Amino acid sequence: MSIQIPDIPLHDGGRIPVVGTGTLFAKGNQLADRLAEAVRLGYRLLDSAAQYANEGSVGEAIRRSGVPREEIVLATKVAGMDQGRGHTRAGLVQSLRKLNTDYVDLLLIHWPNPSRGLAVETWMEMLALQAEGLVKHVGVSNFVQHQLEELHAASGVWPVVDQIQLSPALARTELRAYLAERGIVAQGWRPLGGAENPMGQIVTGKVARRHGVEVSQVVLRWAVQQCAVVIPSSGNPKRWRLNADLFGFELTDADMADLATLDLGEAAAWDSRLHEEW
Ligand SMILES: NC(=O)c1ccc[n+]([C@@H]2O[C@H](COP(=O)([O-])OP(=O)(O)OC[C@H]3O[C@@H](n4cnc5c(N)ncnc54)[C@H](OP(=O)(O)O)[C@@H]3O)[C@@H](O)[C@H]2O)c1
Repeated sequence: MSIQIPDIPLHDGGRIPVVGTGTLFAKGNQLADRLAEAVRLGYRLLDSAAQYANEGSVGEAIRRSGVPREEIVLATKVAGMDQGRGHTRAGLVQSLRKLNTDYVDLLLIHWPNPSRGLAVETWMEMLALQAEGLVKHVGVSNFVQHQLEELHAASGVWPVVDQIQLSPALARTELRAYLAERGIVAQGWRPLGGAENPMGQIVTGKVARRHGVEVSQVVLRWAVQQCAVVIPSSGNPKRWRLNADLFGFELTDADMADLATLDLGEAAAWDSRLHEEW
C-alpha cells in the first residue's frame, strides 16, 4: 500500500510535503531504480543538488516511476560555482537538462558562501528565473539570520524555505523562531542527526518506548511536529515507510522537554559564516 504524506503551505501560495527523501543514498542507475521505487511508494518531495552530481539519476527516477511530473515536488540547488549573474541561469539550464524537465519546483542556494559576496546577485537571478516559469518556488539552504536579511533587503522577498542542519541534537531554536516569524519553512537536512547521534541517546529510547515506536520516528517526528519539513535519506527500502510513518503518534510537552536536553547548541552546527561549498 502506498504512503500518504501530508503537506504544508509555503508563504508564496505553494505547498510542500512535510517528509521528502534525500537522494544521496545511492548513485547512478541504482539511484534511478531505488528512487523510482520510493516515488511509487508515495514520496513526492525529492531533494537533489547540482553539487551532488546526481541530477541525471533523479530525472531518470521520475521517468521510471511512472508518476506524473506535476505530482512531484522536485528540488535542486545552485552550486557555489554557479553563484552570480549569468552563472545561476547557466547552472539552472544544465540542471534542467540533467533532470529531464523544463522546470524545478524548488530552487535553493546551496550555501551562502559569504567570502565571494554573490548570494544577493544569485537571489535576484533566481527571482527572474521564477518569473520566467523555470522555477516555481525559490528558497535557500544553510542561511542564517543576517544572510536572509540581505536577500530581503535587496528584493523584498523572503525565501519560502531555508534547508538547515536540524535534529533534536541541533535544535536551531533561535534560527527557527526567526524563520517562523517570516513564514519561511525550516527544512531539516541530516534530520536523523548524523554524528551528533540523537538516535543513540537514552532519552530518545525512553520517548520511543513511551509511544511504542522506533527512535528514528521520534527524531523525525520532533521536527515535523514543529512544522519543519524533513528529508531523511535511506538506501534501505524498509526504512522508507518507517521514515514517513510519523503521523500516528504525538510527542507530549514532557517528551519535548526530554528531547530538548539533547540540543548541543548553535555552535555545534556547521557555521554558515565560514563553511563554504562549491
Ligand atoms: N543542504 C545541505 O547542505 C545538505 C547537507 C547534507 C545533506 N543534505 C540533504 O539531506 C538529505 C538527508 O541528509 P543525510 O543523508 O546527510 O542524513 P540523514 O537522512 O539524517 O541520515 C542518513 C543516514 O541515516 C540512516 N537511516 C535512514 N533511515 C534510518 C532509520 N529509519 N533508522 C536508522 N537509520 C536510518 C541511513 O542509513 P541507511 O541508508 O542504511 O538506511 C544513513 O546512514 C541528503 O540526502 C541531502 O539531500 C543537504
